[in-house]
Amino acid sequence: MLFLFIIVLANQLTNLNSLEAPKGMKVSFLEPLGFYVEWELVPRTIEDRISGYKVKLWKINEEISRNFKLLFGEQVPGLEKKDVSQEQFENHYTPKNEPTVFDVTNGYLKAIKIKDIKEETLYEVRVAAVRGSEIGPMSDPLRVKVIFRNTTTVMLAKRSLNYCELSTLNGLGDRSVNKDDATLYHTRL
Ligand SMILES: *[C@@H]1O[C@H](CO)[C@@H](O)[C@H](O)[C@H]1NC(C)=O
Repeated sequence: MLFLFIIVLANQLTNLNSLEAPKGMKVSFLEPLGFYVEWELVPRTIEDRISGYKVKLWKINEEISRNFKLLFGEQVPGLEKKDVSQEQFENHYTPKNEPTVFDVTNGYLKAIKIKDIKEETLYEVRVAAVRGSEIGPMSDPLRVKVIFRNTTTVMLAKRSLNYCELSTLNGLGDRSVNKDDATLYHTRL
C-alpha cells in the first residue's frame, strides 16, 4: 500500500516538474532579410531552472504550379502562380527536412534573431524549453514566408494553427519601420 502511494507521489512530482511547451510564439520580419522569433518564458521554480530554449526552423517543401487562367473578363489569359504546401500542418507532425537548430543558452531570453532566410520560401518555426539535458515539448508550429520584398515594402504571410495573416511593412527604405499588422486576407501556405 505504502509502495503504491510512493509510486503515485513520484508520478505526481514528475508531472509537476515536466517541462511545458512554450506558448505565445510570434515571428516578425527583420531587415536585412531575417526573422525575429519571440515566445513566452516557460514557468519555472528556483530549484527547477530552465537552462535555455531550442528554436527549430524547417524549410517546408512546396509545389509551385503555374496555371493559365482567364482573368479580366476572359479577354487576357493571365498567369496565376500558386504555391501549395506538400506537408501537412499540425501539432503532431514534424516536417521532413532537417531543421536548422538555434540554441538559446539562457533561460531568461525569450527572443532570437534568425538571419539568412530566403524570400519566397516557406518556413516552419517551433520552440522548446531546455533544462539541462532534457528537452521539453515543442510549441505549436508557425509557418512564415516572405512573399514580396523591394527596397520599401515587405509582405510577410503567416499561418498558425488558428489563423492566417498577411502583414505589410512599409517605409523600410528610411529604416523607420512602420509596422502594419492588420490582417488583409487569408493566404494558403
Ligand atoms: C515597392 O512595392 C510597393 C508595393 O507594390 C510599391 O508601392 C512601391 O512603389 C515599391 N517601391 C519601389 C522602390 O519599387
